[in-house]
Amino acid sequence: MAQAYPKIAYSKIGGPKAWAPGDLRPEDWRLGIPQAAVAELGRAVAALKAADAKLPAPKPADFDLGLCADFAATMKQRLETGPGFVVVSRLPVEDWGVDGIRYAWWLLGSLVDRPQPQYIEGFWLYDVRWLGDWDADDEQARRLRDAEIKAHTDESLKDVGPRYTGLLWAAKARAGGNSRVSSCAFAHDLLHDERPDLLARLYEPFLFHPFRPVDPNAVHWHPVFRRDGSHVRCQFARDYIAGGAKRWDRPLDPAGAEAIEQFEAILERFALDFPMEPGEFEILDNDLITHGRSQHVDWAATKQRRHLMRLWLGTSGSPYDGPPPPL
Ligand SMILES: [Fe+2]
Repeated sequence: MAQAYPKIAYSKIGGPKAWAPGDLRPEDWRLGIPQAAVAELGRAVAALKAADAKLPAPKPADFDLGLCADFAATMKQRLETGPGFVVVSRLPVEDWGVDGIRYAWWLLGSLVDRPQPQYIEGFWLYDVRWLGDWDADDEQARRLRDAEIKAHTDESLKDVGPRYTGLLWAAKARAGGNSRVSSCAFAHDLLHDERPDLLARLYEPFLFHPFRPVDPNAVHWHPVFRRDGSHVRCQFARDYIAGGAKRWDRPLDPAGAEAIEQFEAILERFALDFPMEPGEFEILDNDLITHGRSQHVDWAATKQRRHLMRLWLGTSGSPYDGPPPPL
């Protein structure tokens, strides 16, 4: 028998993070890092290069980074009480090189919140790039090589995930690959008004499973939207939910399938879409702001290929107490 879902789960989220692209002015989310802060970072980068330091050892407190700390406070204010994301120009990747920018990005991110290890491998800084065989035809190759990445929050799989996601463009693709940012709060509130039945379903659990290596027997079962007091947390990746249904051979219920499809369609339709230049970075509130990327055409030569560096900063979430279905 089909499960009945309540007509409406919760009130609207509202506030400055519930935006459509037309609501935002560039100055709400675009920031320029002061040159004096870049100079501070440059001195730290030189020292870390000389020491051949390894992540996660470098700490902001080991350097004179007062102006960077002030700038990180400005970024955090936009993340907390502004639109929930910032796009920052720019670090001199051409001067510092890929190794140098790695240190600078790590230190700046650490000033926003404590970096978290990523995936079961525990990467402190994850290199998003495809260096494999150009003609490879597996799913991960396609995804990294050129595919559009739909709106998602990072680590939607787990109950506890990063509070903020940061992506720095160390090198860009030959063409395309724009950054796309959307508001889960806006999409939530639109469903609240137009399809409260679908919104209610998003407060009920789904099975999640990714395409990347994970414990194959771990069951990831939780809602897309959760509330803890006044804090709202969205965990969304349509391909992970499709992966959960496939992994456990439990096809999505009709309401669940429609809710996921419509939620993603709203996020895609109301995405802010903009190019990123090498040395620019974005930091997002991973609880309410999704990110994605338009399709790109990469360079054939591996040393030229698109290269993003991802940081996960801080933590958010708690265990979901609903028991999973018998599997
Ligand atoms: Fe992501």
